[in-house]
Amino acid sequence: MKKLLLISSFLLLCISCKKEQTQQPEANVIGVVSENAMVVSAREEVSEIGNLILQKGGNAFDAMAGIEMALAVAYPYAGSLGGGGFMVYRLDNGEIGTLDFREKAPLLATEKMYLDENDEVIKGKSTLGAMAVGIPGNIAGIYASHEKYGKLPMKDILAPVIALAKKGVIVTEKQELRLKKYRDFIIEVNGDSSLFAKEWKANDTIKRLQLAKTLERIQKNGRDEFYDGETGYKLVEFMQKSGGIMTKKDLKNYQVRWRKPITFSYDDLRVISMAPPSSGGFCLQQIMKAIEPFHLDSLGHNTVQSIQVITEAERRAYADRNYFLGDPDFVSIPTETLLSETYINERMSTFSFKKATPSSDVSHGVIAFTESDETTHYSIVDPFGNAVSVTTTINGAYGSKLYCEELGFFLNNEMDDFSSKPGEPNMFGLIGAEANKIEPQKRMLSSMTPTIVEKNGKLFMVVGTPGGSTIITSVLQTILNVHEYDMGMQEAINQPRFHHQWLPDTVKMEPDGFSETIRNELTQLGYFIDVSESIVIGKVEGILVLPDGKLEGGADPRGDDKAVGF
Ligand code: GLY
Repeated sequence: MKKLLLISSFLLLCISCKKEQTQQPEANVIGVVSENAMVVSAREEVSEIGNLILQKGGNAFDAMAGIEMALAVAYPYAGSLGGGGFMVYRLDNGEIGTLDFREKAPLLATEKMYLDENDEVIKGKSTLGAMAVGIPGNIAGIYASHEKYGKLPMKDILAPVIALAKKGVIVTEKQELRLKKYRDFIIEVNGDSSLFAKEWKANDTIKRLQLAKTLERIQKNGRDEFYDGETGYKLVEFMQKSGGIMTKKDLKNYQVRWRKPITFSYDDLRVISMAPPSSGGFCLQQIMKAIEPFHLDSLGHNTVQSIQVITEAERRAYADRNYFLGDPDFVSIPTETLLSETYINERMSTFSFKKATPSSDVSHGVIAFTESDETTHYSIVDPFGNAVSVTTTINGAYGSKLYCEELGFFLNNEMDDFSSKPGEPNMFGLIGAEANKIEPQKRMLSSMTPTIVEKNGKLFMVVGTPGGSTIITSVLQTILNVHEYDMGMQEAINQPRFHHQWLPDTVKMEPDGFSETIRNELTQLGYFIDVSESIVIGKVEGILVLPDGKLEGGADPRGDDKAVGF
């Protein structure tokens, strides 16, 4: 709940008096508010399609299918038929669940497929081109969710998406910059006659005619068109011609998994998030339970002490993530222990406000992990009260950069989310990253954290973000901004963010978001601060249920993101 405007204005006054204070975004900024329904995604055209589906009487699951495909049309940077993702849902009656439509390793994948004869990682092999591609799950995902909960015929859901692909999407300034940044890689993989090899400029219109044809076939023939039909056969042929290992059997075998969500309490909130093979909900629980006893509201927003508490909790959770987590269909995760209060409190017992805990003291492992930042998220609340939170990805920007001209979409490079080279034993005697080693048909570990929050048993917030390893910490800070610091959805999203992931042992901070005084104090306490100029941490899409029952959609100003409601 928002505090009195008077108090905020007073605080603002104090803030502007202090020369060295952290630069704060505008306080009390309100996002889009609507009475019935809300969609927030990475592009206006995409949110509009979701909104249209809801206005036609569709529900959040129908909107999910339309939005997922519209992202492939309007946001090829992270949306594609060639990717995968996770959905967390909460029905109006309080029923909750999750859908795992993450990519899988091909049958011909092997543990050492990205290593040379000296067991060294071959640079680029797991990120660029056909060898980087996991078996896509997006089409299976939208059909599974629609089959279980959808209301409208898929034909009607896909119609506006196909129309958008034919009409085309106008290039934004931010999109022009992204296309420019990755153009050379796209040309390296696909040659210079590819659709995305062209030097697209802001205000140009990109029509997706080949994608429209693929979507028309899917509209006609359903899920099997992709996994056991003309589209699938063309895809396999293309993958093999491009030097990949995907087979017809891989596509035919692909299945989604309905999984039990991670749920936990934090003060009077109930957090519902994604379970492994995403580390998202798992780490979010470890971090939130570790910080719960510290009463962050009294420590203040983005102060040295609150940054310390959050950073130390993150450091410990990420150290565990790297060792223990993987696809639960392949590895056994000691969930009960790692999520127990005793264990979490014990981990935090070495924390002191006087000095940073070096990451080398938290675990003996030496495996750092890197993840690409270019995933995307959308949040939906429908007029029936159902909520859907989906994070979806092709991993890197434009995935593996491999673009199937005939089918009209980019292929993921999700294989890079596996550990290509498992490492040293940790203090528990487990081999670092062994849980996430490559195995045929296995799902690679993710950080995606689509999340729904209840308050007093009622829907309160729908939230998620892209950002690779920073996904978990961006979702965390957004929830804390609302809950601990009484911000609205848009205001919470606009705040500067920071991130720690155990290794490298640095606190990444958004440039200009934190004052020099705060950074210096943290440095003196032993924290290594990284404010590289280009850092953007997360692009959060959230929906907050306001005290009067209206919905506030918050779209991240860091991108072209947009909330649309009615
Ligand atoms: N590829 C990013 C993630 O799954 O977390």
